[in-house]
Amino acid sequence: MTNWDEIDRYAKQWIKEAGERIRNSFKMELIIETKSNPDDLVTNIDKETEQFFIENIAKTFPGHQILGEEGFGDSIQSMKGITWIIDPIDGTMNFIHQQRNFAISVAVYEEGVGQIGLIYDVVHDELYHARKGQGAYLNSTEIKPLEEVPLERAIIAINATWITENKRIDPKLLIPLVNAVRGTRSYGSAALEMAYVVTGRVDAYITMRLSPWDFAAGIVLINEVGGVITTLEGEPLNFLTENSVVVANANIHNEIFTKFIKRK
Ligand code: IPD
Ligand code: CA
Ligand code: CA
Ligand code: CA
Repeated sequence: MTNWDEIDRYAKQWIKEAGERIRNSFKMELIIETKSNPDDLVTNIDKETEQFFIENIAKTFPGHQILGEEGFGDSIQSMKGITWIIDPIDGTMNFIHQQRNFAISVAVYEEGVGQIGLIYDVVHDELYHARKGQGAYLNSTEIKPLEEVPLERAIIAINATWITENKRIDPKLLIPLVNAVRGTRSYGSAALEMAYVVTGRVDAYITMRLSPWDFAAGIVLINEVGGVITTLEGEPLNFLTENSVVVANANIHNEIFTKFIKRK
């Protein structure tokens, strides 16, 4: 039998320790490199943080597989068994430019089902955490289930890229949505944007391309407050590829699809 309390205790301990290390790194000079393009950034702190988790997980839970953005974990072929999914710094551009608006995202799945989701806003020392079926919390405060919000009073998190000419969606579909809602925001950290949907600070987050480490923890949290998360096709997300993501309060999710995207 899997001891989920033990896994949860370690996951929380490690995410707090990793956050402490990141806060301490603010005094030091960063080593910044680029990956797929000049705006795709990674630092020594992203890499060290991922290695910190992997060393601890491998030592404590040798049978678990680990998927991490910076590639120090396993190359995952399936979600069989227990899988940790880690984004050591989600919002690296913000981490470098702003020293805020980034988070550590850690999730633990069993046979493809999310059991633990943790999103740690390091600068504010705010841990969003959830266990499947046990509610979602912000530090020690339980997060209330989401209530219905009329679309005209909704705030939607969306990056401007997706309402200009782009390869993934016809902006004509999203412009009327942007016009219909009360306001739009873009924070530059998918994990935090999902945590903001969970807490009702925004009512939806729409993006065309995320990787499993960006949304794995967010899914566990959103499920606990009655939110809905799908691809742009209305399908469940796939943990082995990139995905488009529409995550929202349930009634807003429904309205986005029925009135604007019409693909569900
Ligand atoms: C990125 C951030 C960003 C999102 C990108 C992600 P990273 O993650 O979440 O908000 O728009 O798609 O790749 O690279 O900073 O971990
Ligand atoms: Ca990255
Ligand atoms: Ca990320
Ligand atoms: Ca990252």
